[in-house]
Amino acid sequence: MLLIVITEAGERLGSTSAERYLLIYMVNVIAIIMMLFITFFVMFNIRKNKLLQEQLRQKQALESEIANAKAETQEQILKDIGWELHDSVGQMLILANIQMGPIKMKMPEEFQHHVAELQDSLKTSLTEVRSLSKSLNGEVVLDAGFVKSIKNELDRLERMRFDTARLHVIGKQIPMNKSKDEVVLFRIIQEFLSNSVKYSKAKNINIILDYEPELLVVRAFDDGEGFDINKIEKGSGLINMKGRAKLIKAELELHSEPGNGVELMIRYPFDC
Ligand SMILES: Nc1ncnc2c1ncn2[C@@H]1O[C@H](COP(=O)(O)OP(=O)(O)OP(=O)(O)O)[C@@H](O)[C@H]1O
Ligand SMILES: [Mg+2]
Repeated sequence: MLLIVITEAGERLGSTSAERYLLIYMVNVIAIIMMLFITFFVMFNIRKNKLLQEQLRQKQALESEIANAKAETQEQILKDIGWELHDSVGQMLILANIQMGPIKMKMPEEFQHHVAELQDSLKTSLTEVRSLSKSLNGEVVLDAGFVKSIKNELDRLERMRFDTARLHVIGKQIPMNKSKDEVVLFRIIQEFLSNSVKYSKAKNINIILDYEPELLVVRAFDDGEGFDINKIEKGSGLINMKGRAKLIKAELELHSEPGNGVELMIRYPFDC
């Protein structure tokens, strides 16, 4: 009876040790499977992230190419309009002015000053058409330089529409790495000015170019009626402004509220 118990106890002892080995073996197997699984999972995630990053890079490259192509097309259209204004409208104004000469001579003396005034208006129109045609041509903008082109544009608008249109330059001017960026930045400012002319009823416009070592901060203000950004119907102007800023990796903010004019702020990094 006791032997059996001992034998039974011995057998039990033997089976516990086998069980322990089996357990260790199984734990090892499970650990290896888990390690393989984790390794596979990590590798899968790394690969998936790489693929996603590559897809994002390709998408961004495509978007940037499309935006570039769009900006180039718009530049070409503006240039064509500029040429057309210069060559066609400009020539017609010159011709009209020349034709006024003999008409003036044939007029009785008391009417001649009216014709002279008309000739002056034609000359002024010609100057304005030429100035506008220059600002539409990106090559002329590049040739004149960014700061001078803005100054010319503000002078033109002061003659045409506002009590004052002033440019303030702070710091030492730094040329942009990509000259095409100057034209893009100029076009954003031009859209701001065009909106101020069309909608603001402003009397004064101010533009500040603040040259910091790594950044150009452009701030443009009109003191007109302003608008509620949530209530207006966005045209292509405001959308293009943002698109153009993205193209040159600049930050753009437009602030306005009814009665308080409009403020545009652009932060252009020189190292982009
Ligand atoms: N300086 C401003 N003062 C008052 N309202 C403005 C000013 N700028 C823009 N707005 C308002 O914002 C709206 C959208 O301007 P946006 O430039 O996008 O379009 P648009 O000038 O009407 O058309 P587009 O620029 O395509 O010719 C304007 O219709 C106007 O109501
Ligand atoms: Mg507009």
